[in-house]
Amino acid sequence: MLIGVPAETTAGETRVAMTPETVKKLIASGHTVRVQSGAGVAASVTDAAYQAAGAEIVNMNAAFAADMVLKVRSPGDSECALMKPGTVVIGMLNPFDAPGLQRLAAAGLTAFALEAAPRTTRAQSMDVLSSQANIAGYKAVMIAADKYQRFFPMLMTAAGTVKAARVVILGVGVAGLQAIATAKRLGAVIEASDVRPSVKEQIESLGGKFIEVSYDTDEEKEAAVGVGGYAKPMPASWLARQQVEVAKRVALADIVISTALIPGRAAPTLITEDMVKAMKPGSVIVDIAAGKGPDGVGGNCPLSEADQTVVKHGVTIVGETNLPALVAADASALYARNVLDFLKLIVTKEGALNIDLEDDIVAACRVAHDGQVTKK
Ligand code: NAI
Repeated sequence: MLIGVPAETTAGETRVAMTPETVKKLIASGHTVRVQSGAGVAASVTDAAYQAAGAEIVNMNAAFAADMVLKVRSPGDSECALMKPGTVVIGMLNPFDAPGLQRLAAAGLTAFALEAAPRTTRAQSMDVLSSQANIAGYKAVMIAADKYQRFFPMLMTAAGTVKAARVVILGVGVAGLQAIATAKRLGAVIEASDVRPSVKEQIESLGGKFIEVSYDTDEEKEAAVGVGGYAKPMPASWLARQQVEVAKRVALADIVISTALIPGRAAPTLITEDMVKAMKPGSVIVDIAAGKGPDGVGGNCPLSEADQTVVKHGVTIVGETNLPALVAADASALYARNVLDFLKLIVTKEGALNIDLEDDIVAACRVAHDGQVTKK
């Protein structure tokens, strides 16, 4: 099969869908791989490295003129126009972006959005949300440590003792767990909140403390179970109690890292302006949900600004929306392996396309085919 790997064109996107390691494997399986010149540069991969792996280096048009196109982000109008109908496109195509899916369908593409894969054991090796959220959690702590004008660890020096930083993590999915692990390695004292009580043990196993909020009604208990591993919107009664507990911790915190998301919905508001006002000067918030708040404004904190770092009420608020792109080399390496594992589900050993909709992962990821949006 002829496989194309174009350069990404979304602003700020530094990742690339294939690395020399994965290109080599595709070529060993009998495929021809065309990589757009410069596609890997921002992820520290040269054209020469792709060539050494056996890829042909081509221009943009040739990278899109393939049987299958491997992308990081969803192709825009001009990119869709470069692909012939029937081309298979695989990437993080945003299954909640209805106009985007319509664009892929209108171009006659067979499109697979990898974020739509179920969170099952079998899907783990191709779980792009996990591979990239893990990186986001790590980088959020690195950025917080950089912006914060004090140490993370407790230090006893001849010039006196320095207290450990207090870190509060809001939302303990994949990104939140990695943020806890990373902040712990730096010596911080950590407390964390999530709607799902099942994360308590995970937080404690990483050396953090779970912020307990009781579940008082059947409705609250039922919502806390979530669906498919994901959070469901919690009743207002529970959120109000959570806010009281979180506010106490945030007022004492040096760093807050918020990652709370509900798929396909606005991110919940967890750090209000009053809570920011109550924080100590010099504190830092890294809001991984920035740009995903109600109507796309704010994130878990309404004062966050997408892709900006702002100082409000003496608190530095980082609203970086694409943290994995700031760790482009490893983010690409993990993403490329996710893509390669997904390809094993839709390409036979002989190298032919075989889209089996009986396979729950394939069926969940297919978002467009034959002119129609087919998102499940
Ligand atoms: P996500 O990015 O959708 O959300 C981040 C976190 O925010 C979640 O833990 C969610 O419960 C939390 N959250 C939502 N509303 C909140 C609120 N009001 N207050 C506090 N926290 C709130 O989550 P992610 O990282 O995609 O993980 C989703 C689930 O998938 C998790 O249960 C995770 O354990 C599971 N998972 C399963 C895998 C597997 O078995 N193959 C692989 C990876 C993740």
